[in-house]
Amino acid sequence: MQFFIDSADIDEIQDALSMGMCDGVTTNPSLVAKTGKPFRKVIDAILDIVDGPVSLEVTTLSYDEIMAQARELAAIAENVVVKLPLTPPGLKACRTCYSEGIATNVTLCFSPTQALLAAKAGATYISPFVGRLDDISSDGMRLIEEILSIYEHYEFETQVLVASVRHPQHLAQAAAMGAHVATIPHKVIGQLFKHPLTDLGLDQFMADWKKVPAG
Ligand code: G3P
Repeated sequence: MQFFIDSADIDEIQDALSMGMCDGVTTNPSLVAKTGKPFRKVIDAILDIVDGPVSLEVTTLSYDEIMAQARELAAIAENVVVKLPLTPPGLKACRTCYSEGIATNVTLCFSPTQALLAAKAGATYISPFVGRLDDISSDGMRLIEEILSIYEHYEFETQVLVASVRHPQHLAQAAAMGAHVATIPHKVIGQLFKHPLTDLGLDQFMADWKKVPAG
């Protein structure tokens, strides 16, 4: 399973990389805005240190404008993945990107049929937003299960990228289901390390080590 970090913050990305927990990066306009820095400055810094796939989102809705942005973004670096909206123009652009060899991540997916459309359009990744479904009392992880089983029937190449991950349980379930990728906020990566028995055990080992005679 691949771990992407869902962040545009260079310190968070660097930290995840140093732990071997960053196979790639996903960004979106909200994450870029949060940095308070210009888009190009943010993405150049990320692309300087990340070799894996880096998703950069288009910020326009018409097919022609999406394609212009997609080509521009894809030309920045080989590992750029163009993030496209799950709309008719977005999926039409996905198809064009597929034929031009541009990697894509179709975002804001909330239903199995949307995921099916993205796979047929040739998406490299589909991003179902599990946390946002949970937010409206739906079942985000059930969607992942449904998409994975549809993709398996037809052997689509599109990879399921679990997005809007909010807590470790999302990741545990995604891994158990065999999701290809999860994009994880830095805070959740930190939570994944935590177990009270690890802390208790370490306290005990540290205390006992002090009892070992020197020499
Ligand atoms: O990967 C998509 C993500 O950035 C959205 O997360 O928590 O805003 O739903 P969230």
